[in-house]
Amino acid sequence: MNSEEFLNEILAPVHEFCRFLDTNPPAYCYVPLRTDEERIRVMKSRLFNELRAADLFGTWLKTTPELDVKATMAESAHEEMIHAELLSKRIRDLGAEPFDYKPLPAQIAMFNAMEGLNETCERIAGLSLAGETVASVIRAAHITSHSAEPSSHPVRVTVGRS
Ligand SMILES: [Fe+2]
Repeated sequence: MNSEEFLNEILAPVHEFCRFLDTNPPAYCYVPLRTDEERIRVMKSRLFNELRAADLFGTWLKTTPELDVKATMAESAHEEMIHAELLSKRIRDLGAEPFDYKPLPAQIAMFNAMEGLNETCERIAGLSLAGETVASVIRAAHITSHSAEPSSHPVRVTVGRS
């Protein structure tokens, strides 16, 4: 099996899951998304994730020996910060404070656990592959929706304009 076949094998279940999300938008287990307040709470949670993802990429830079991966991590850290800027602006535009969110212990633990990953492959698999692949599909769904306004459709809300 070559690397492309390996990647396709790993991506197949992710793509299948994302296709499922297209018709069954995520409800974010603990936030029902019935009101704009709840939707903003999810946006704040996403903002926390964007910032922690940027932290992770930055933390890993020093101990990632592969130059091409290191460069991609640096770009990814910057991209996550752009997402954070967009989300925080959107949350403010909706009349809320972007940085008063209190993350769930599991949310903190997830990022802390990823921070402890020591191998490049583990790091990429732990964050970039799972998280960003799902985010890309959700973002594509958002772009095709032609709306950045909060709505009853959770996909639009969970990613803001990122
Ligand atoms: Fe992001």
